[in-house]
Amino acid sequence: MDNFKFYVPTDIRFGKDRLADELPEALNVYGKNVLLVYGGGSIKKNGLYNQVIDLLGKNQNIVVELSGVEPNPRIETVRRGVSLCREHQVDVILAVGGGSTIDCAKVVAAGFYSEEDPWAIILGRKGYQGEALPIVTILTLAATGSEMNAGAVISNLATNQKLGVGGPSMIPKVSFLDPANTFTVPTYQTAAGSADILSHLFESYFNVTPGTDVQDFVSEGLMRAVIKNCPIALKSPDNYDARANLMWASSLALNGLTRNGKHGVWSCHAMEHELSAFYDITHGIGLAILTPRWMEYVLSEQTVTKFAQFAHNVWGIKEEEPIIAAKKGIQATYDFFKTCGIPMTLPEVGIDDERFAEMAKQAVAHSTIKADAYVPLAEADVEAIYRECL
Ligand code: NZQ
Ligand code: ZN
Repeated sequence: MDNFKFYVPTDIRFGKDRLADELPEALNVYGKNVLLVYGGGSIKKNGLYNQVIDLLGKNQNIVVELSGVEPNPRIETVRRGVSLCREHQVDVILAVGGGSTIDCAKVVAAGFYSEEDPWAIILGRKGYQGEALPIVTILTLAATGSEMNAGAVISNLATNQKLGVGGPSMIPKVSFLDPANTFTVPTYQTAAGSADILSHLFESYFNVTPGTDVQDFVSEGLMRAVIKNCPIALKSPDNYDARANLMWASSLALNGLTRNGKHGVWSCHAMEHELSAFYDITHGIGLAILTPRWMEYVLSEQTVTKFAQFAHNVWGIKEEEPIIAAKKGIQATYDFFKTCGIPMTLPEVGIDDERFAEMAKQAVAHSTIKADAYVPLAEADVEAIYRECL
């Protein structure tokens, strides 16, 4: 196990009906001027917007709104948010939504302090060390873990770039995690979010660092929790415990708990971010399509032991011959996504082979998968994996 620092200062307020008593207090620590950030309107349909506006009114907040944050949030929206913060002397950002809304809020928060255009922060990539406005979140979709981590992913469709950035000041100060706020998440997004959570776990689980039983066994438990609860939430969207388990898994899958102490970079996210950058598809769907194909592609004598462990401990496969067990585990992963209703080929989400070479080139250029992935991937490998998804 490698050395690591694990510092996640987000104050998590998990559970039902906490906003009325706790949201005003959480915001007042920072001031009265609030930038309320949200997406395309789901919070207006399900009543959360009215509830929040009502509470902010009673708390005598001055509220400015940044609405219409896109899934795969755009740099233009970030710029709009930075201008609003400057114009209205915002003290604190309240992000109400899924990962896209929270990610947008994070870069607005950092952009407020930057003399450069916010896209320069993104191009600076990981390790933003500057200041950021404080962020409070109300999570409405279990998926990215953005509610409890330092990362943000922003798209620039003009240049076909979708890039991640992160820094300690971007970690939310307080996150309200009420599973009931995810009852209205449609089945497609519930499945996509669950695939994203699983992918965050897979990406660190399949890793070359030896001696990481704690991370791996915690990870296996979280995977099993998602595999158990996603189908329940799909069938019964207002099943509180199913939603609660998905929500908490979302946060724990990407707050460093299962990733710290390991080195190397992720493979499927690097390949998926190009699909989203070029075709604006749903992140979790792209991951679900790629993951079983990537698993098959990297299965070898070197990796078979870990894939067999995955099959045994996550899927309960009894087969003892490692290579057969490994293949059964990969098949089970594919079948799970399929059963969740995810379209499991790229053409089904509107992607053909026309830009595979270009996307493969970008996937390698925007990451270090060629040197540092679990199994290093060159452009030809990425293209071959895309082809398996046809
Ligand atoms: O925009 P609204 O109207 O709110 O609708 C959203 C959106 O259409 C809807 N939704 C969210 N909560 C809902 C709801 N609909 C009904 N009821 C609710 N309670 O769901 C749609 C998708 O929302 P979005 O925020 O885009 O989804 P997600 O949370 O999956 O975020 C995806 C983004 O996060 C990035 C992805 O690349 C993508 O851009 N990621 C961020 C990470 C991070 N910050 O650590 C890591 C991830 O790997 C990922 O890359
Ligand atoms: Zn992800």
